[in-house]
Amino acid sequence: MAYRLTVIGTGYLGATHAACMADLGYEVLGIDVDTTKVARLAAGDLPFYEPGLEALLRKGLDSGRLRFTTSYEEVAEFGDVHFVCVGTPQKAGEYAADLSFVDGAVESLAPHLTRPCLVVGKSTVPVGTAARLAGTLARLAPAGGDALLAWNPEFLREGFAVQDTLQPDRIVVGLPGEQGAAEHAEKVLREVYGTMIAAGVPFITADYPTSELVKVSANAFLATKISFINAMAEVCEASHADVTKLSEALSYDDRIGGRFLGPGLGFGGGCLPKDIRAFMARAGELGADQALTFLREVDQINIRRRIRMVDLAREQLGGSFTGRTVGVLGAAFKPDSDDVRDSPALDVAASIGAQGGAVTVYDPKAMDNARAAQPGLAFGTSALDAARGAHVVLLLTEWPEFRDMDPAALGEVVAERNILDGRNALDPERWRAAGWNYRALGRP
Ligand code: UDX
Repeated sequence: MAYRLTVIGTGYLGATHAACMADLGYEVLGIDVDTTKVARLAAGDLPFYEPGLEALLRKGLDSGRLRFTTSYEEVAEFGDVHFVCVGTPQKAGEYAADLSFVDGAVESLAPHLTRPCLVVGKSTVPVGTAARLAGTLARLAPAGGDALLAWNPEFLREGFAVQDTLQPDRIVVGLPGEQGAAEHAEKVLREVYGTMIAAGVPFITADYPTSELVKVSANAFLATKISFINAMAEVCEASHADVTKLSEALSYDDRIGGRFLGPGLGFGGGCLPKDIRAFMARAGELGADQALTFLREVDQINIRRRIRMVDLAREQLGGSFTGRTVGVLGAAFKPDSDDVRDSPALDVAASIGAQGGAVTVYDPKAMDNARAAQPGLAFGTSALDAARGAHVVLLLTEWPEFRDMDPAALGEVVAERNILDGRNALDPERWRAAGWNYRALGRP
């Protein structure tokens, strides 16, 4: 039988999962507590930018296989498999993750579950959450032991969300402890992901805590790799070495590899920063905090890059931002995204603004989100517009249109030809040849 799927929470993760599952041929019902979001999705209007996703959303809606609702009753009635895709943001003023949306989703769904079904958590959660939620299900679902829970972490990257969902590196599923329940849950998920498994995607089964840890430890590793090269950048700065050459030379060692070894302004976004903090908080609760003290350093190195960028800009302006004009290129936390959550670029722009600089920001996709997050900053209509009259230009998100900028054209509009490359995205020789004073993090 073809299972009917539901997706609870239709943000970056849920909307992508819903549209991709519909594309695989499933009937999918998405639910969100945000009625505006649901209305927009149902109208084929994706509330955020993600390459290729809006087309997939419309295709799903047109086929009739993809629908959205705000009713948990309808979701419970419709679905055989319920994917929980709600957010787990950082708690205000704490390192720990805020689990109120995950708890809320399961508590809202469970009382309506009257027939056998599988609830599949995809949200990134502190280890131990799945076991607790299995208890919630058992307590609140009228179906009792026929409403099972599995944990199936999602590794998608923004900007590659569709590709990462349809062709994942691996599928990891955390199964219940009881053997019969585990076998059933595994069988259901093997069928749901049948196309991918047939295409050779590794399918790894584990217990709940291991599956939860796979996700946070993957993100901790990636964050560590980025902070490692950024720590090397600090040493390069102190010793007049070039971290981009260093990174290139390291990358040819297969054991190290070149991915996530890009030095610059460091990591941001809705995942890496909050996930490593929540991981530290959880390890502390478990009495294993010593194991993760290095992540504190990873976080610190990352934050120091933002401070260093602001210092470099101030230095370039002779020691003060007062009365000086700064053009900022980039607001999203990375290219091909409109996400400004914990964005290094926007953080640097705001900090320069707070120190008296007249900052104008431009980003190809993240303008609305950036304006909402930092209403005090000025926003330009293009890269040239943001750079007009600037005493220094900062490249903080490596969008292709910034990488490919013509140094001569930009040179025409600025007050002074000073460029700081926060992402090591430009060719210094080309910019210097066009009369620019080029500086970057970790390079002479
Ligand atoms: C990340 C994980 O990659 C993904 O597997 C997980 O599911 C969610 O978190 P995402 O937040 O979309 O995905 O972004 P990612 O591509 O990992 O980049 C994170 C940050 O690291 C960005 O700010 C990026 O600019 C930065 N980065 C990345 C570097 O500074 N250097 C690099 O070499 C790579």
